[in-house]
Amino acid sequence: MTPTQMNAASLKADELEERMSRELDEMVVKSIIYQSGDIDPAIERPRPSAEERAGRHFLMREDPRLRQMPEKPTLIDFFRYRFGPSAHLLQSARLALQSGLPEKTVLACLLHDISVFGFIRSDHGYWGAQLIEPYVDEEVSWAVRVHQALRFYPDESVGYEYPAAYVNFFGPDYRPDPYIDREYQAARNHRWYMTARMITVNDIYSFDPNVRVDIEDFTDIIGRHFHQPEEGLGKDNSASSHMWRTMIAPTKFL
Ligand SMILES: [Fe+2]
Ligand SMILES: [Fe+2]
Repeated sequence: MTPTQMNAASLKADELEERMSRELDEMVVKSIIYQSGDIDPAIERPRPSAEERAGRHFLMREDPRLRQMPEKPTLIDFFRYRFGPSAHLLQSARLALQSGLPEKTVLACLLHDISVFGFIRSDHGYWGAQLIEPYVDEEVSWAVRVHQALRFYPDESVGYEYPAAYVNFFGPDYRPDPYIDREYQAARNHRWYMTARMITVNDIYSFDPNVRVDIEDFTDIIGRHFHQPEEGLGKDNSASSHMWRTMIAPTKFL
């Protein structure tokens, strides 16, 4: 598609969205980052006309099309109400638990792709680490950050090979970006290297459809190792509260 065709297609999508948002009292405008690629964000796009705007305001609260979050949301509430189906996280954590790994490592496995499931895919290790950093032991957030890089590099000592899935996903000639390579080189000699490496070892792509794991199976481990703020995630004043708030109300205008 050319940029012009792309923008024509996205204008149609906009019309649909506009119709959908008409069912709300307020107008919804999506963040640029939700749309970049589908549209060229640098191109001027039509704004709602004065007619369309008459008597309506922009959405400045939780999106009523989403399920309402509790007043003081916990990590488990985010799994229930805001994350996509997270069997991958649950089964990875279950495997880590079955392998007898320390609880902190199990938690790291449970949260390793939290950004993919609830926030932003690109550079998910970094975003995920930042989300949880104020609430977990530094070892856990460090491991979540670097697992993204470690996934690309084998470690024979623990039987970890370059994932066959990655050959399918990215093609046989794909090579990680230089910053990923630097991250890997630095992580290799780090005292917590094995914690991050264990995330990659337990990072499973083949789900067992017969195994049902519930987030509540991890209530105790979360309770012991994830320092849930009393006010609720997003309601406290940590360095990542704004990120949790964005997940609570992803279409809030400002
Ligand atoms: Fe990952
Ligand atoms: Fe993963």
